[in-house]
Amino acid sequence: MRLLLAPMEGLLDFVLRDVLTRVGGADRCVSEFIRVTGTLLPDKVFLRTMPELNNGSRTLAGVPVRAQLLGSDPDSMAANAANLARLGPEGIDLNFGCPAKVVNRHGGGAALLQDPEQIARVVGAVRAAVPAAMPVSAKMRLGFNDTALMTECAQAMQAGGACEIVVHARTKLDGYRPPAYWEMIPRIRESVTVPVVANGEIWTVQEALRCREQSGCSDLMLGRGIVADPGLALAIRAAVEGEQTPAAEVCWSDLVPQVQRFWDMVCEDLEPRQRAGRLKQWLNLLRRRFPEAEQAYQEVRTQTDQREITLWVQALARRQEWAGL
Ligand SMILES: Cc1cc2nc3c(=O)[nH]c(=O)nc-3n(C[C@H](O)[C@H](O)[C@H](O)COP(=O)(O)O)c2cc1C
Repeated sequence: MRLLLAPMEGLLDFVLRDVLTRVGGADRCVSEFIRVTGTLLPDKVFLRTMPELNNGSRTLAGVPVRAQLLGSDPDSMAANAANLARLGPEGIDLNFGCPAKVVNRHGGGAALLQDPEQIARVVGAVRAAVPAAMPVSAKMRLGFNDTALMTECAQAMQAGGACEIVVHARTKLDGYRPPAYWEMIPRIRESVTVPVVANGEIWTVQEALRCREQSGCSDLMLGRGIVADPGLALAIRAAVEGEQTPAAEVCWSDLVPQVQRFWDMVCEDLEPRQRAGRLKQWLNLLRRRFPEAEQAYQEVRTQTDQREITLWVQALARRQEWAGL
C-alpha cells in the first residue's frame, strides 16, 4: 500500500509537507499546482511553490515530492515541463481536477475532463518533453458536470503516457461536498492498466479501509483528513499492515512541537499578511480530531499580531511540557 499526500493549494504547501512528513507514514507528496499559461515560467516560480527542488525533490524528512502542473496548451505545458525537469523533480503530475472558475474559463483543470482528446495531447506533449525515466502522472475528478466521460479521460491519460492516475472521486459539479463516490473508481481501474490511486473524503482509518474496499485500490491519497489528523497515515498503515507497522497513535502532545515548528516556518517563509491565517487554518482543521486544538483555536482566533502569537505558541508548548511532567 502506498499513501500519498494530496496537493492542496493554500493549505498543504511546503510548510505542512515538512511537518506532516516528519510525523510520518506518507510515501510521496505532490506540490500544489503551478499554473502554466502562455509564458515560460522562470525557475523561481517552480522553486517558490516547491522549495524541496533545492533538496533533491524531498522534504527534510526525506519523502519525495512530485511537482504538479496545470494547463491546457500542449506546447506551453511541454516547454514548461522541460524547464521544470531540469530542476530535478521526482516526477511531474498533471492537474485535471481543479474546479476554480478562473482556471476552467481558460480550459484548464477540470474543464479538460470534457475533452479526452485534449487530455491525451497535453499528457503526450509533457511525456515527450521530459526524460523517459521521469514519472509523469495525472490527477482527475470523475468528470465535469457528470461522469459520462470518466473512463475515456482515464484512458486518454494512459494513452498520453501517464504512469499513474489519482482519482478524486467527485465531479467538478460536486465540488467538495460529501460523499466521495469511491464505488465509481473500479470502472476507471478496469479501463486502464496503470495503477489507480483513490482519493476523497478519507478522514479516518475506517474510511480508508472502506475506500480501499469499495474502490479496489490498494493505494490512497490523503488530503484534508491528514491535515486534521497528522497521525492518519501511520494509523492506516498500522490497520492495514498489522504487525509490520505497530500502532503508533499520534496525540496532541506529539503535535504541539509540530505546531511550534509550523509557526516558525510560516514566520520565516510566508508573507506577513498570510501568517496568522495559516496557523488558524491548521488549528481549525486539527480541532476536528483533537479537543485540545479546539481550545487552542479559540485562544488564538482573534489574534493578529505576530509577536503576540509567537508568545502564545511558546506558552502552548510550555503548558504541554508541564502537563507531561
Ligand atoms: C484548499 C484545497 C486546495 C487544493 N489544491 C489542489 C491542487 O493544487 N491540485 C490538485 O490536484 N488538487 C487540489 N485539491 C484537491 C485535493 O488534492 C483533493 O483531491 C481533495 O481535497 C479531495 O481529497 P480530501 O477529501 O482527502 O481532501 C485541493 C483541495 C483543497 C481543499
